[in-house]
Amino acid sequence: MQHKHTPINPKFPHFMHGGDYNPDQWIRTPEIWDEDMRLMKLSHCNTMSVGIFSWVALEPEEGRFEFGWLDEVMDKLARNGLFAILATPSGARPAWLSAKYPEVLRVDQNGIRNLHGKRHNHCFTSPVYREKTQIINRQLALRYKDHPSFLLWHISNEFGGECHCELCQEAFREWLKRKYHNDLDKLNNAWWTGFWSHTYTDWQQIESPTRRGEDLVHGHNLDWKRFVTDQTVDFFLNEVKPLREITPDIPITTNFMGTYPGLNYWKLAPHCDVISWDSYPTWHGERRDCELGSDIAFIHDINRCLKNGKPFMLMESTPSMTNWQPVAKLKRPGMHLLSSLQAVAHGSDTVQYFQWRKSRGSSEKFHGAVVDHAGHENTRVFKDVTEVGKVLEKLDPVLGTAVDSEVAIIFDWENRWAIEDAHGPRREKKDYQLTCQSHYGAFWKMGVAVDVIDMDCDFSKYKLLVAPMLYMVRPGVAERIERFVEAGGTFVATYWSGIVDENDLCFLGGFPGPLRQVLGIWSEEIDALYDKDVNYAVFNENNTLGMKSAYEAKELCDLVYAEKAEVLAVYRDDFYAGRPALTLNILGNGKAYYVAFRNNDIFLDDFYGKLSKDLNLKKAIETELPQAVTAQVRTDGRNAYLFLMNFSSEKKEISLGNSSYTDMLTGETICDKLSLTGYGIKILRS
Ligand code: GLA
Ligand code: GLA
Repeated sequence: MQHKHTPINPKFPHFMHGGDYNPDQWIRTPEIWDEDMRLMKLSHCNTMSVGIFSWVALEPEEGRFEFGWLDEVMDKLARNGLFAILATPSGARPAWLSAKYPEVLRVDQNGIRNLHGKRHNHCFTSPVYREKTQIINRQLALRYKDHPSFLLWHISNEFGGECHCELCQEAFREWLKRKYHNDLDKLNNAWWTGFWSHTYTDWQQIESPTRRGEDLVHGHNLDWKRFVTDQTVDFFLNEVKPLREITPDIPITTNFMGTYPGLNYWKLAPHCDVISWDSYPTWHGERRDCELGSDIAFIHDINRCLKNGKPFMLMESTPSMTNWQPVAKLKRPGMHLLSSLQAVAHGSDTVQYFQWRKSRGSSEKFHGAVVDHAGHENTRVFKDVTEVGKVLEKLDPVLGTAVDSEVAIIFDWENRWAIEDAHGPRREKKDYQLTCQSHYGAFWKMGVAVDVIDMDCDFSKYKLLVAPMLYMVRPGVAERIERFVEAGGTFVATYWSGIVDENDLCFLGGFPGPLRQVLGIWSEEIDALYDKDVNYAVFNENNTLGMKSAYEAKELCDLVYAEKAEVLAVYRDDFYAGRPALTLNILGNGKAYYVAFRNNDIFLDDFYGKLSKDLNLKKAIETELPQAVTAQVRTDGRNAYLFLMNFSSEKKEISLGNSSYTDMLTGETICDKLSLTGYGIKILRS
């Protein structure tokens, strides 16, 4: 694997630190721009994202461009040794555009066209919108291609949503014709439309899924979601075409939204040069900080894996609080540094914020910013940001380094779409993402690095592959899992796996369908329990895992027969007492476990604790980490950079065993043990 990647833009071989900068909101008071420059340098920020929502300031009338203000801002940045991430402005459009070309406005599920307003609400198919975005993008590229401050393209903003206008309906039908080779019978079969007399006899009868009409044909829903992703990718490619031509050396990104369900980011990722995402955890909220820390780590890891381990960008995060979450709680002292560097620990080469300066009016005027309405540097938040900037300046050796994972968890967007669409076995609490995150949590607590991948990724480099709730199994996946296990890999699957194919059609001939061979089991039925119900999985004496206790089985209990597999644990209660609850199948040189019951953290910690010992999984540090403390390593293949992070407000002691380290921030040598303050972090070089 590649351990050292080139910087996002080799022109700036350092951690980027800065954020969304909207100087056009302050166009009437340009003296504020000079103050911004002073404050940017003072806060140890170096890179600003400009122009994200600047379309009307750049093109106040169709075809009339005004770049003067942006020239000035870009030049000021350059003169002050600062850099720019330049955005294309398609995330929000000028009123003149909507007024003259209503087709650019999005149409909702009910067929009603939006009025002008807000943002992120254009039609992705509209030829006019595509043409207009290309024109402004071309102008921006020509104007700034050689600008010394220009580092990176930020395409639009947080792509998302869907449009149901006639242009999109037609594009959907064309997409379907291509997919089903112009054969309506193939589509009817894949969608199982014989159900409720839903067979289509003409392509024109097909509409996008809607609550007012059709939304119960699962293959249809799935194809629509795939179409929305493909159409968004197509729109993106249309935007970047002039940029690739005019600025071939400027890398391109677009900011993702974590596990946003509406787009399969794995399809957009290959077209980006670097992945970036916007992270807004609700610290100190209803979930404990250590649980949330683990959940966010899971998402950072997805973003790192989207380009096969290449460092990503934390494109947005708040320097203090948001304005859109139910409660805008402030980050407690220490949390800003910790959560910023958590991203770095998992592979980010930037810490960027929304936003540089608080706007004076409109809906985001109370959203956290580096510079508050007070307008000066004497604030807690400004100091927190400055601290992050100073720390990042000491981390140059970490830039471009990799995370080495021996474990992968599959979290697959299409699988999630299919699971969420399924009616049964429980309407509520299907909890695919939560389940993946709880399996992940067991490794996070041990300081074992994990890749979070989709089912089409290469499995061969891992020791352990975990696929919670692999309900959908696309063609070839089961065969690749078999080869992985035969070659010595360990595979873990759970209840509700191997149920449907890529069209959301159930596998016939026995579940878990194509996974039956590798798992050595047959699942006959699945029992859904009410919230009050509990069963137990009891481990057999002398089971090969050496597990001893009984563990709670809740919500979903799969009733399986061990065909070739060995039974390690059985259900304790009910009519299926004694039936397998956890099995192990040996195949070739590897092992495949089937966890038939929905479990909790106590089980997951013990189970993965055993597997990690069995497989001798590499930990970031060979020590028992205290509760709420985690560790992560970035490495260039020779040097290891260890991040020790405390996601609790209490002080924690960590024993370092025989190793000695250098504290990268203070230069001190550290051996034996160290302590982390509440929300403390240390970065150590070994
Ligand atoms: C009703 C309908 C059936 C079927 C069942 C499912 O009884 O008549 O077609 O949908 O519900 O429980
Ligand atoms: C998103 C958007 C930003 C801003 C922030 C507020 O991430 O991309 O423009 O609205 O949310 O948290």
